[in-house]
Amino acid sequence: MSQKRSLSRVLVTGGAGFIGSHLCRRLLGEGVDVLAYDNLLTGRVENITDLLGHERFTFLHYDVTTCTSTGRSTRSCTSRRRPAPRTSSACRSRS
Ligand SMILES: NC(=O)c1ccc[n+]([C@@H]2O[C@H](COP(=O)([O-])OP(=O)(O)OC[C@H]3O[C@@H](n4cnc5c(N)ncnc54)[C@H](O)[C@@H]3O)[C@@H](O)[C@H]2O)c1
Repeated sequence: MSQKRSLSRVLVTGGAGFIGSHLCRRLLGEGVDVLAYDNLLTGRVENITDLLGHERFTFLHYDVTTCTSTGRSTRSCTSRRRPAPRTSSACRSRS
């Protein structure tokens, strides 16, 4: 018997990339809260421009490899060890 799990919040790494941005859009369409991390190495903010104002979407310009601890939640990694990641508004102001 298959069971469908309902997700309430999802972290999408590479969220400004080709696949990641479509995944974010799909998840938002399903009612999920989406947190997207991307260091914009190959991805572009333009891929998610339409999502930036969405109330359930948060984008952080962040390199996921800079989180060195294991077994901790992303929140504790970013808040305890690193300065706050730049937000989508910071990204927009750079361009
Ligand atoms: N129109 C099209 O059909 C089209 C367009 C673009 C790409 N493609 C294809 O899609 C595939 C690539 O798509 P993809 O989504 O896998 O690649 P992608 O490069 O678009 O996405 C990867 C994302 O991960 C991010 N990233 C990489 N390292 C990171 C890190 N350490 N921390 C945070 N973010 C990081 C990148 O900045 C990028 O946004 C290729 O096959 C390509 O040819 C097709």
